[in-house]
Amino acid sequence: MRVVRTVREFEGLRRTLAEPLGLVPTMGALHEGHLSLVRASRERDATTVTTIFVNPAQFGPSEDLAAYPRNEARDLSLLDAEGVQVVYAPPVEEVYPAGFQTYVSVEALSTRLEGASRPGHFRGVATVVTKLLALTRPQRAYFGRKDAQQLRVIRRLNTDLDLGAEIVGMPIVREPDGLALSSRNVYLSPAERVAALCLSRGLRSAAAGYAEGERDAVALRACVLRAIEAEPLARLDYVSVADDATLDELEVVDRPALVSVAAWVGKTRLIDNIELP
Ligand code: PAJ
Repeated sequence: MRVVRTVREFEGLRRTLAEPLGLVPTMGALHEGHLSLVRASRERDATTVTTIFVNPAQFGPSEDLAAYPRNEARDLSLLDAEGVQVVYAPPVEEVYPAGFQTYVSVEALSTRLEGASRPGHFRGVATVVTKLLALTRPQRAYFGRKDAQQLRVIRRLNTDLDLGAEIVGMPIVREPDGLALSSRNVYLSPAERVAALCLSRGLRSAAAGYAEGERDAVALRACVLRAIEAEPLARLDYVSVADDATLDELEVVDRPALVSVAAWVGKTRLIDNIELP
């Protein structure tokens, strides 16, 4: 496995890599969710390039950039064991050198949900993902549906900027009790870890309501809301039942929909979602 730190070094290596090439962008602190993307690429692509870069541009000033979990040695050994051929893990100055001033902004899609709660977040995501796609020129790039809005933003920029990759969306990997895997789960105390189940519980309750024929979006949002409100350690940020493609809020679920929730559990902000039907 080659570990590459600079654009110039990657460009030299790119010519020698067997195609199809699969890209798996991450911020490290790898877990089974990340590894599911790596495995999907390893099954289909001749070369898998994984990136590890904690992208400062997607963190707000009051967010957890400094505290974000980092363990590169562990991440590299996990990726090596999966048979990944190339890891691109640049320092911040390599991605944002002095004089950097070009940003990618996916407009309407970025204003909703996570974008409303985290101003500037998707501008940072879109910018770094565009740079990674432009540098690595993959045939396929893999992203988790855990970050459902991020996946939609990335599909949009890939189409709008003619980047030409196939964007592959992968299922959410969960703990046996339903908690969606996240690098941020390590922040949870044992009591908060139990409390965190209210997100997936609320989403399952909305899905059960939908399966029983409920189509009123207010009623479906209330299923999620009740589960969060029943948990004293949790505080709701938002709950949404939105058009799966545009992320516009729905009144009636008469088309494919995304039910999503963000909540604070203690000091940790968690997100989760489920697609209907
Ligand atoms: P990160 O949070 O490290 O996630 C990297 C990839 O793993 C994303 O595509 C994310 O959706 C996926 N992922 C995380 N948890 C998952 C789970 N439980 N099941 C399935 N997939 C999961 O998302 C980012 O990094 C960054 O925003 C990035 C795209 C790398 C740009 O900086």
